[in-house]
Amino acid sequence: MVGVVLAVVGALVVMLAIYDLIQRRHSILRNFPVIGHFRFLIEKIGPELRQYIVADNDEERPFSRDQRRWVYATAKKENSYFGFGTDDDLHKSGRIIFRNAPFPLKRKSSDDAPVPCGKILGGWRNRPQSFRPASVINISAMSFGSLSGAAISALNRGAKLSKCLHNTGEGGISEHHIHGGDLIYQIGTGYFGSRDPDGNFSIDALMETIEKAPVRAIEIKLSQGAKPGIGGLLPAAKVTKEIAKARGVPVNRDVASPNAHTVFSDIEGLVEFVELIAEKTGLPVGIKSAVGNEKFWSDLASYMAKTQKGPDFVTVDGSEGGTGAAPLVFSDHVSLPFWYAFPLVINAFAKVGLSDHIVFVGSGKLGLPAEAAEALALGVDIVNVGREAMLAIGCIQAQKCHTGHCPTGVATQSRWLERGLDPSDKGVRLANYVTGLRYEILRLSHACGVEHPALLSDDKLAVMGDGRTLVSAHCWYGVAPEITQSKQRVAGIASALKEL
Ligand SMILES: Cc1cc2nc3c(=O)[nH]c(=O)nc-3n(C[C@H](O)[C@H](O)[C@H](O)COP(=O)(O)O)c2cc1C
Repeated sequence: MVGVVLAVVGALVVMLAIYDLIQRRHSILRNFPVIGHFRFLIEKIGPELRQYIVADNDEERPFSRDQRRWVYATAKKENSYFGFGTDDDLHKSGRIIFRNAPFPLKRKSSDDAPVPCGKILGGWRNRPQSFRPASVINISAMSFGSLSGAAISALNRGAKLSKCLHNTGEGGISEHHIHGGDLIYQIGTGYFGSRDPDGNFSIDALMETIEKAPVRAIEIKLSQGAKPGIGGLLPAAKVTKEIAKARGVPVNRDVASPNAHTVFSDIEGLVEFVELIAEKTGLPVGIKSAVGNEKFWSDLASYMAKTQKGPDFVTVDGSEGGTGAAPLVFSDHVSLPFWYAFPLVINAFAKVGLSDHIVFVGSGKLGLPAEAAEALALGVDIVNVGREAMLAIGCIQAQKCHTGHCPTGVATQSRWLERGLDPSDKGVRLANYVTGLRYEILRLSHACGVEHPALLSDDKLAVMGDGRTLVSAHCWYGVAPEITQSKQRVAGIASALKEL
C-alpha cells in the first residue's frame, strides 16, 4: 500500500516537474521545477509570517514589498488594489501628498491612455529627426550583457506594445533589441557598437550600428548614479559570440570600459562630440549623468546658452539608481540622490533661459505612481524606469545581478536560467506595467483637477515637512513654480494633448 502511495506521489511530482518545465508563465518554475512552488507559497504567507518575525510592508529596500506587489499585480493585470487603508506613517518627513481637487476632472481615461511628453526631443537644435516622445514613461539604459538576451527581448517587445522608448544601455545593439520597439542608443566610455578595433570611437562604426535598428535618439553616458566615475570589466567568460558581436569586441577576451571618455575631457569637447554625432546622424543627442557638484552644470548651461549648441536632453540619474554590479562604497556613498541632483540641474539651465528647451529625463526609483507624478510635476519631462521594468518581467529583487546567477533569467547569461524567461509573455507584462503606471499618474492628475501630471502646480503638491508642517513640494525641493509651470512648458503639454 505504502509503495502504491509513494509511486502515485512520485508520478505526480514528475508530472508537476514536466508541467513546470514547459509552462511559460513563471520563470522561477521553469528554472526550478517543483521546488519553485515553495517560493510562491512563502510569498503568499509572507505577510502573515513577517507580521510576527521579519519586516513590514514598507521596510525592504531598494523596493518595498508594497511597491513590488504593485508592479507585479500591474504587470500581470491582476488586482493591484490594497485593502483596509494605508499602513504608512503619514507624518514622515519628506512624504509626498497630492492635494485632491474638490471636483476632480471629469475625464474618462482608458487604461491604456497615452501620456505624451510636453517637449519635442531635438526641437531646440532643430535636429532633422526631432520628435515628440509618445510616452512620459520609458525604459532606462540596461545593456545586453548585464541583462540576458531574453530580458532585452522582453523589454523591446513591451516597448513596442506600450509605445515607449527602449534605451539600449552601453552594451551596443543586439538582435534581441530588434522586436519593433524604438531605441535610444547609448554610448558609454567603451564605445560599444561605435568603436574601431583598438577601442577608439569611430563615427563610421556608429553609423553602421544605427542603420540596422530603429534608433530615435542617442545618449552619451557620462556616468550613472550607482557607480559614477568607475569603469567596468566584462570578464572573458561572459564575452559570448552574441555579446562580442553587439559590442564590436573579440570573443572570449576581457572587455574593459575605462572610467572616463577618451574623446573629450571638458565641456567644450563634450558639446563638440554631441554636435558631431547630431550632425552626422540627424538624431537628437543627449547626455546621462549622476550629479556631483553644481559647478559643472552651471558651466555647461552657460556654455550652451552662449554657443546655442549642446545636448537636446539631459538624463539625471540619482544615486539610488541600480546597476548590474558596483563596489558597495560607490553605490552607497558617491553622487547625489535624485531629489538633490535634479533641482540643481534644472535650476542651472533655468538660470540661463534654457530649461524650456532641454528635455529633462529623470531616473532613480521613479517608476512608481507617486514618485513618477511628483517628478513630472517638478520639471522632469520623461521618467526612465530601470529596475521597476525588471520587476515587471519577473525579477524578484534577489540582488544577484553581479553573480550571473539571477534565478529569474533577467540578469544572467546562463542559458539554463535565461530559458525560464519567455520574452513574449514577459513583453506583455512590461507593456501592462508601463500602461498601468501611465494610467495611475493620469488618475492622480485627474483627482487633482488637471489633465497631465506635468500640470500639477505648486498648489497641488505638498510634502510633509519636519515637525508636522506641510510644505509646498516646489519649496521643499527648491524648484521654482515659474520653471515647472512656465508658459512654454504648459503650452507644450497643451499641444501634446491636442495631438492625441
Ligand atoms: C542591471 C542594470 C544594468 C544597468 N545598465 C546601465 C547601462 O548600461 N547604462 C546606464 O547608463 N545605466 C545602466 N543602469 C542604470 C539604469 O539605467 C538606471 O539609471 C538606474 O537603475 C535608475 O533607475 P531605476 O531606479 O528605475 O532602476 C543599469 C541598471 C541596472 C539595474
